This record gives sequence, C-alpha cells and structure tokens, in this order.
Amino acid sequence: MRKPLIAGNWKMNGSRSDNKALLAGIKAGIAKAKVAEVAVCAPYIYIPQVAEQLAGTPIAWGGQNLSTEAKGAFTGEISAAMLLDFKCKYVIVGHSERRTLYGEDDALVAKKFAVAEQAGLIPILCIGETLEEREKGITEQVVARQIKAAIDEVGIATLGKGVIAYEPVWAIGTGKTASPQQAQDVHAFIRGQLAAHDKAVAEKVRIQYGGSMNAGNAKELLAMQDIDGGLIGGASLKAEDFLAICTAAG
Ligand code: 13P
Repeated sequence: MRKPLIAGNWKMNGSRSDNKALLAGIKAGIAKAKVAEVAVCAPYIYIPQVAEQLAGTPIAWGGQNLSTEAKGAFTGEISAAMLLDFKCKYVIVGHSERRTLYGEDDALVAKKFAVAEQAGLIPILCIGETLEEREKGITEQVVARQIKAAIDEVGIATLGKGVIAYEPVWAIGTGKTASPQQAQDVHAFIRGQLAAHDKAVAEKVRIQYGGSMNAGNAKELLAMQDIDGGLIGGASLKAEDFLAICTAAG
C-alpha cells in the first residue's frame, strides 16, 4: 500500500506573517489527516521559519529547487546540504515552471534528482506535457522521455527512492484539472514505464497528481488507483483548502 503524499508547493508566495498564520492553521487541523503524509515546499528564504514552526509536528518540509553543485562560486544558488541543514526532507526537481521559464532540460533535471538523492533528500520529480503536446497526442511520448532521462542518469532503483509528480502543464494554475480518468491513464502509463525496468519499484513509487487540485476535486482524483497524492500550488496557500485536500486522502 502506497502512503499518499500531499505536498504544498508555495511557489514564490508568502510573507513572514502570512506563513505564520498558514502554518498555524495547518498545524491546528493536521490531526484529521489520518492517511496522507503531508509536506510543504516553501521559498528558500522562508525554510528556517517553516522548520521552526513545524518542528515536532508530523508535517515535513522541503525546497522547490536546488543546485547541482555542492558549494562555491554559484551566486544565487542553494545546495542540497543547505536544505538538509534546515532539515528539509523533500525537494522538488524539474517543476514545469523551472523547465519552461528557466530553461531546465531533462538532463539537468535528472542531475538535480541524482544530487538530491545522493545527499539524502527525497526528490519529487515533476513531469508532464504541455497543452500543445496533449493536442498532438504525444503525452505518453513526453512523459516517457522525461522518465527515461532520470532513469538513464540514476538507474531505476534510485529513481524508486524519489517521488514522481505528474503535472500536466495545461492544468497548472489554470483552474483546468485533468479528469480523474485522464490523470489515472497517464499515471498508469508512468507506472508501466517503471515496471518495464523493475516491477517492485513500480509498485512502490508514489506518483502524485498536480494541476489545479483543490478541496472540491481532490477526493475523486485521490480515489484513482495510481494517484498517490497531490502536489498542490494555489490551494496550498489557504490552510482550510490545503487541509481539505490532506483529509480527502482519508
Ligand atoms: P496549481 O495547484 O496552482 O495548479 O499548481 C500546481 C503545481 O504546479 C504544483 O507544483
């Protein structure tokens, strides 16, 4: 049985006072989330605040990106060791916003996965097709390519130590959610790609759905056989909405 992971991706949102209220709200209601594991991925500068407020709770935290370098003259970058210094458990790699706005390609994302995992973080590898790719009917080709890049870099056993997040780009921040069946079809395809390398890893690895998941649609999505949680953007910024998603997992 895979334990669902509901992770908030705050993206570039928040302030010290907003975060304080949001985290207090999540903490107050988290006991109702009986099944899911819960995490929040905050902007780097707020990770110490998150670590302080969430210490001693069942809620984990993480970063939204990391450098492939260990240390040195890399202005503006953050290393895996720095994330671990603040007790991050997770780090998102290859979010579509990093891929499209900051030019991260499959090879760089795979390298980030490798560096994160080697350091002791659990990478959340984001994959997904654009609207154009879906309309061209090449969704499976795209996600297969993205997964293959990671497997080629780290091998199937190491990939299995991470989490995969299927985030159709056309569903991110648009209010357009993939239907549960649309998402399930791609999740099953992804698991099949993993199974071709190693059936046990495929059975074990968690595949989250991301893209306009909210309090209203989470239950149906999470009920699908191969959907093992969610990576939540907008709806993770309101405690009530985020908690509703966390409890929708059971
Ligand atoms: P939204 O939930 O705002 O669509 O964002 C999804 C996402 O990109 C999470 O990483």
